[in-house]
Amino acid sequence: MGFTMGLNLLLLMAMVATNILSLYHLSTTIQSKPSSPPPIPDHLIHQLSTIRATITHLTSLQSSTNTPPSSSSSAAAATTPPSDLLIYTHISPIASSCKDNPLLLHKYMNYTPFSLCPNDSPLAEDLILRGCHPLPRRRCFSRTPSTTPTSLPTDPFSPLPEKTALLTHFSCKTFSCFAGLKPEMGFDMRIEKTRFLTYKSDLDLPISQLMQLAKQAKSVIRLALDIGGGTGTFAAHMKLHNVTVVTTTMNLGAPYNEAVAIRGLVPLHAPLQQRLPVFDGVVDLVRCGHAVNRWIPVVAMEFLLFDVDRVLRGGGYLLLDHFFSKKMDLEKVFTPLIGKLGYKKVKWAVANKTDSSGVKNGEVYLTALLQKPLTK
Ligand SMILES: *[C@@H]1O[C@H](CO)[C@@H](O)[C@H](O)[C@H]1NC(C)=O
Ligand SMILES: *[C@@H]1O[C@H](CO)[C@@H](O)[C@H](O)[C@H]1NC(C)=O
Repeated sequence: MGFTMGLNLLLLMAMVATNILSLYHLSTTIQSKPSSPPPIPDHLIHQLSTIRATITHLTSLQSSTNTPPSSSSSAAAATTPPSDLLIYTHISPIASSCKDNPLLLHKYMNYTPFSLCPNDSPLAEDLILRGCHPLPRRRCFSRTPSTTPTSLPTDPFSPLPEKTALLTHFSCKTFSCFAGLKPEMGFDMRIEKTRFLTYKSDLDLPISQLMQLAKQAKSVIRLALDIGGGTGTFAAHMKLHNVTVVTTTMNLGAPYNEAVAIRGLVPLHAPLQQRLPVFDGVVDLVRCGHAVNRWIPVVAMEFLLFDVDRVLRGGGYLLLDHFFSKKMDLEKVFTPLIGKLGYKKVKWAVANKTDSSGVKNGEVYLTALLQKPLTK
């Protein structure tokens, strides 16, 4: 039990770290090309090499503890692709980052077709975070919880009904357990109900104020994307304003996707480095919350912001909600980067991040509301 929990924690760390690593990889690949590369800060390189060492350790640990008895050895699994993987490659191309992780990919595609899928959602997430997205399709039956709830909540702020999601992979086995962990995880609905509503500091942009600003600019908000939106609370509040918000969210250490869905909202299981799966110019607002921060390498961040620009309509808004970075990086790196978009600054508030890691690292928060201009 203790071991499983420990392993879950390690997996969580590994997933967070691989996300950063894959982004780092992406950025270094790009930077090896001749065109003027922005530098990666030294501290990030140092942190990433630490993470890389940890990952190497963790993946060897994971494969030695998790290898199913049926697959002979990891090396053999890497050289002989599972038959369903071979069939699938004739139907649809596989992302190169999937091929870069043959051990994981083969493990993922090594299943018995037309029977119950392996209980391996962390493996899928692990691949996605390494850039293998979309994942190859599989021909097996997904697992379900053994009971169905009699009714799902009509109010997105009522407590999440238990036994509506498979929680075996997590340290907590109930939603109420997650609600009792850290409030910022977003599972305590009493807290979620109060978020985005009040103005406590200049870093806050209450939804009522956001709607008012849009109204004054004669810019209606119908449809929005919330990038890295956790349990979907922004979408839940916007729903009360008749705005449809689609939330991208990963299951890093908690059942975020299930939580969003149970609340009657739309979860998109897509990592930050993924092209946003909507067409050009179709959304009125994109919000980037805590998941978008200084840990994303600058080049990856630049692609993210320009993809946001692609999906926003003219006159649409980008809301950077509590973006954090080192004070110096905000001035020297991120402000010029955001400036490249040429958006109108409707709101721009910077303040010290006053929690312990913020103080230790000299970090600041930025909350900015930016409006995309019309093409001239
Ligand atoms: C949302 O739509 C409903 C039904 O059309 C309407 O009654 C309500 O006033 C709308 N709410 C807001 C905040 O616009
Ligand atoms: C913010 O933090 C810096 C040190 O990192 C300090 O010099 C400055 O006074 C702080 N500003 C406010 C408004 O507290």
